[in-house]
Amino acid sequence: MAVIFSGIQPSGNLTLGNYLGALRNFTKMQEQNECYYCVVNQHAITVHQDPALLHRRTRELAAIYLAAGLDPEKAALFVQSEVPQHAQLGWIMTTLSYVGELERMTQYKDKAAKQGDSIPAGLLTYPPLMAADILLYQTNFVPVGDDQKQHLEITRDLAQRFNRLYQEEVFTIPEIYLGQGGTRVMSLQEPTKKMSKSDDNTMATIYVLDAPKDIEKKIKRAQTDSENSVHYDAETKPGIANLMDIYAAVTDTDHAAVEREFSGQGYGQFKKSVAAAVIAALEPIQKRYAELIDNPVLDAILDQGAVKARETASRTYDKVVQVMGL
Ligand code: ADP
Ligand code: NA
Repeated sequence: MAVIFSGIQPSGNLTLGNYLGALRNFTKMQEQNECYYCVVNQHAITVHQDPALLHRRTRELAAIYLAAGLDPEKAALFVQSEVPQHAQLGWIMTTLSYVGELERMTQYKDKAAKQGDSIPAGLLTYPPLMAADILLYQTNFVPVGDDQKQHLEITRDLAQRFNRLYQEEVFTIPEIYLGQGGTRVMSLQEPTKKMSKSDDNTMATIYVLDAPKDIEKKIKRAQTDSENSVHYDAETKPGIANLMDIYAAVTDTDHAAVEREFSGQGYGQFKKSVAAAVIAALEPIQKRYAELIDNPVLDAILDQGAVKARETASRTYDKVVQVMGL
C-alpha cells in the first residue's frame, strides 16, 4: 500500500483543469492506498485573501472533493492550517532551501511578475511549504497536474538534502503521479496558457460549478482557428487541441479517437459535443455538492480528517526535531 498526498488551494473557484488534472485522480487512488487530501489554505495566503471569502472557499473546496467521489472513510480530507506541523516543517524546509533555486521556479516568476515592486516573500517560499506538506506523510505518490513537476522536483531535492545532511532516512522520496496523459487544460481564451482559478477572465475558465448554459457559452466562444477541421496539432492549433484534450478526458478516450469521431465535421458541431460531454461529466458532482455544502456533516468530516493527519504528521515531525537537535 502506497501513501498518497495532494492539495488544492482555496484561492478561487475550482476549475475543470483542477478536476481533470488532479481531483479526478484522487478518488481513483483512494481504493488501494493510504490517502491524505488537503485544502491548502496557507498556500492561498501567499497572496492576500479576503477572510470571509477564504473561509467560504475552503468549505466549498472540501465539499467539491467529496462531491467528486472522495470517501472520508477511505481518505483523510483536512484543512492545512488545522495541522500545525505543516507550517513547522515548512520553516525547516525553508532553512534548507537556496534563494537561487527558489527564484528559478517558473510559478514564482509568473506570480511575482504580477506583483509590481512589493513581491510577498511567501510566493518565494511556497515550494518549501509544499515540500513539508508532502514529506510529513512519508508520501510515495503525489497526484498533481503537470504544471507542478518543478515543485515536485524541489521537494525531492529537499528530502534528499535533509536525509544526507542528517545521515538518516527520515523522509521517503516522493514521486509525481500524472494519471492518464498528464492532462493540462488550457485557457479557453489564450490556449497557450493554463486554465487557472486565479484567471480574472471568467470566459477563459470552466468552473466545476458552472451552470450548463455558461459552459455552452464559454465553449462556443472558445478561441480556435480558421481551418474548421478537427485535427490535433498543439503547436499551430492550440485552441482545438485543448478542446480535443478536454473531450478525450471527460469521455475517457484519446485524441486520435476524437479526430476520427469528428472527421468531416466543423467546429460548431464539435463545440456542441464538447459542451454536452463536459456538462454530463460535471452534473453528478454539482448535484452532490448542493446536498453537502450546508450540511454539518462536512465539518465533522474535516475534523476527523485533521485528527488522522495530525497523528501521521506528528510522527514525522517528532523524528525531524529529534535528528536536528531542536
Ligand atoms: P490553480 O493553478 O488553478 O490555482 P492549484 O495551484 O491550486 O490550481 O492546483 C491544484 C491542482 O490542480 C494541482 O494538482 C495542479 O497541478 C492542478 N491543475 C491546476 N491547473 C490545471 C490545469 N489547467 N490543467 C491540469 N491540472 C491543473
Ligand atoms: Na496555482
